Amino acid sequence: MNVLIVFDTYYGNTQKVAELIESSLSNVESQLIKVDLITQTLVDQYDLIVFGSPTRGFNMTKKIKKSLKNLDYRSKKFWVFDTRMDVDDVDNKLLLKLVKRFGYAAEKMENILIKQKAIKAMDYTYYYVKESEGPLYETMTQKVKDDLIRLNETILN
Ligand SMILES: Cc1cc2nc3c(=O)[nH]c(=O)nc-3n(C[C@H](O)[C@H](O)[C@H](O)COP(=O)(O)O)c2cc1C
Repeated sequence: MNVLIVFDTYYGNTQKVAELIESSLSNVESQLIKVDLITQTLVDQYDLIVFGSPTRGFNMTKKIKKSLKNLDYRSKKFWVFDTRMDVDDVDNKLLLKLVKRFGYAAEKMENILIKQKAIKAMDYTYYYVKESEGPLYETMTQKVKDDLIRLNETILN
């Protein structure tokens, strides 16, 4: 099993999570790339692909969307995550309504990959940033570690 981790980022938070993920993977070959560098040849070399995107305007970034829609992931295993604001931090009723209605990046990334006939290795997850630009909440480091215990179990099985 080898793992390709693909991320996009504006302020570095999603990159930080992606780096933590890569350093927490045990006993597997892995590569970490910014989404700009993804190619079909690279995708074809990996068994599991992890995608991370910031949530922007209730969605994934355009580059992540393009990379999911334009390449072939048939029969590839995947896991996706996003970074997002914590709704408890949002003191704006209209924004809260919109978030409830339009959601976040991760579930939409998952849906595209399922349509692409990729295989979900693990349910999507998310990591909270403070305010709108971060940094990540301190508790997120532990959350990554907990998620990676699950991912490592999935990889081993
Ligand atoms: C223009 C803009 C739109 C955003 N839209 C959302 C959103 O719809 N939902 C949300 O939870 N967070 C939203 N955020 C907060 C981002 O999710 C946050 O900036 C991101 O997780 C930071 O990741 P990055 O450092 O990798 O770019 C938005 C931030 C900006 C600047």
